[in-house]
Amino acid sequence: MAEIIDGKALAAKIKREIKAKAEAFEFKHGRKVGLAVVKVGDDQASAVYVRNKIKACDECGVRSIEHFLKHDTQERELLELIDSLNADETVDGILVQLPLPKQIDSKSVLSRISPDKDADGFHAVNAGKLFLGDNPRFVACTPRGIIELIKSTGVCIAGKHAVVVGRSNIVGKPISSLLLSYDATVTVCHSKTKALADFTRQADILVAAIGKAKFITADMIKPGAVVIDVGMNRDEAGKLCGDVDFDKAKDVAGYITPVPGGVGPMTIAMLLSNTVDGAAHE
Ligand code: GUN
Repeated sequence: MAEIIDGKALAAKIKREIKAKAEAFEFKHGRKVGLAVVKVGDDQASAVYVRNKIKACDECGVRSIEHFLKHDTQERELLELIDSLNADETVDGILVQLPLPKQIDSKSVLSRISPDKDADGFHAVNAGKLFLGDNPRFVACTPRGIIELIKSTGVCIAGKHAVVVGRSNIVGKPISSLLLSYDATVTVCHSKTKALADFTRQADILVAAIGKAKFITADMIKPGAVVIDVGMNRDEAGKLCGDVDFDKAKDVAGYITPVPGGVGPMTIAMLLSNTVDGAAHE
């Protein structure tokens, strides 16, 4: 029976530390740390994520500057908003919630955010520095959270075989680079991987970032493995669930994150951590 990794409790502890840093910033600079939160359109999942991010700002003593734009907003308008946020000295971090509506090119938008305010760590400069092992100013929030979750188990990452399932720019690619920087042996699998279970069964550390409900079944997990579930899906009954079949997987894994209450709260804690540390950076 696996130990359940309590992401909610770990995130709460980290947020208390962030709050103290945010208060020290306010004392020194006479203003709160500011995070601009930009959402375009009415995507239901994005609305929930954004609401949780704004609530976390409040808990940590960070000012959220909210910009909710209509679904038919043109790219030019969004780029102008980003330019003004880049120039605003009271804005320390800028977050544009993804996905964006189809008339807007995400790459152009993410590359317009100043790399010095890139709280999500998605700008090519920060993502590229992570890839090169060159100390980026911002590292993507979900991957940072995953590393903290693994560390909390006491399992040493160096020398372990980490298998990442998923190759997105938000999770799969950056977590692969990060695990590599911690000296794991990293295998990246994706939707075209043949005989996926042959890989996942070798994983000492398994990161599931696929986006398919309960896709990773118990027989795909190495006994005793650390299993990190990045998924956020609905099952047949409409209940929130991850990419891992948790109820059966927990009997095989050594450590496992639940959904909800695992990776999700840590992503938000890392966003606040990035914002406050970025603000304090001289
Ligand atoms: N959409 C899904 N995950 C994320 C995230 O971590 N940041 C942003 N901005 N959008 C997302």
